[in-house]
Amino acid sequence: MKATAVAGANIALIKYWGNRDEALRLPMNSSLSITLDTLLSTSTVMFDGDLEEDEISIDGTPAEAAVRSRVVEHLDRLRRWAGSEERARVASYNNFPRGAGLAASASGFAALTAAATRALGLSPDERELSSWARTGSGSAARSILGGYVEWRAADRHPDSYAEQIAPPEHWELLDCIAIVSTVPKSVSSAEGHRLAPTSPLYRARLAQVEAALPQMRQAILERDFQRLGELAEAEALSLHAIMWTSRPSLMYWMPETVRVLAAVRERRREGLSAYFTLDAGPNVHVLTTPEHGEQVSRRLAQVEGVQQVKVARPGPGVHLVEQHLF
Ligand code: DP6
Repeated sequence: MKATAVAGANIALIKYWGNRDEALRLPMNSSLSITLDTLLSTSTVMFDGDLEEDEISIDGTPAEAAVRSRVVEHLDRLRRWAGSEERARVASYNNFPRGAGLAASASGFAALTAAATRALGLSPDERELSSWARTGSGSAARSILGGYVEWRAADRHPDSYAEQIAPPEHWELLDCIAIVSTVPKSVSSAEGHRLAPTSPLYRARLAQVEAALPQMRQAILERDFQRLGELAEAEALSLHAIMWTSRPSLMYWMPETVRVLAAVRERRREGLSAYFTLDAGPNVHVLTTPEHGEQVSRRLAQVEGVQQVKVARPGPGVHLVEQHLF
C-alpha cells in the first residue's frame, strides 16, 4: 500500500540538546516548540515485496549515503514493529533548504513516520506516532502535533512523546526567518547532541531549562509575548553557549547571523515587538506579532547578507494526503 503524509518544520522555544539514550533519541530535557505552517516536507512511501532494497529519493535525487542509512534504519524499526520484511520506495520533498538549521529532519521524519506506518497497515495513536518519529529525529516527535507542542523527556521509549499544549489558533504569532545561508551544516545535530555533555556549562543549562520550560508554557497559555520573547532569546543563547564550549567546539553562527541579532535588538529599542531564536544553523528565526509582522520582515530583508525572509505561523500537525509523489 502507498501512503503520503505532509508535516511542518518546527521552531523550538525551549531546545532539545543532548540525549540520555542516543540510539532511541531519548532527550536529556523536555522541549517546547511551534509547528510551522509554510516549511513543509511531503513523504510518499510504498512497500513492495518485489523490491530488492529500499529506494530512497529526496528532493528528486537518490539520497546520499548518510541520509539513506538513517532512513533505512528508521524503516527497519517500523518494519520490525509491523512484522514486515518488504522493502520500500520512498520519495521525500521539502519546500525549503535542507541541512541549514531549518528543521528539515523534524518535518521529514514526521512525514516519513506517518506515511510509512500507514503504508504498513499500522494504526498508531498520536503518542505512538510521536514516539516513533522521535527515533528517526528527536525534534520530529514535535512535528507530529500542530500548534504549540511540548515533548517530554523520559527514560523509556513509550513515555517520551510530544503533546499539543495549545492549537495553532490559540495565538497567531509570526516566525520571520532571516535566511543568511542555505549551505548544509558541516556538523550534524546528531553529532552536536553527542558533544553537549562535554561542555562544562551543560549541567547549568539543564537546570536553566527545567526552570524556563514551565514559564514558557505559561507565557504561551497567557499569550504574554514579551515573556515568551525574553525566554526564547535567553534559551537560544544558552544553547549556543553549550555549542561553543563543547569539546571540540561547535560554531554555527556566521557574521551575517550576528548582524541580524543586533538588528533585532535595535528594532526592539525602536518599539517593534521582535525576539530572536536560532537552532543548529546560522539562520535566525524572529518571533513577532501579526501587527508588526510586515515591518519586521521588511527590516530583516534590509540587513546586509540576508538572502531571503520566510514567514511562517503556527500550523497543523502531520496529516495524510491523497496526492502521492509517485
Ligand atoms: C537545535 O532533532 O535535528 O534544533 O535527533 O539528531 O535528528 P536529531 O537532532 P535534531 O535536533 C534539533 C536540535 C535543535 C533544537 C530543537 O529543535 O529542539
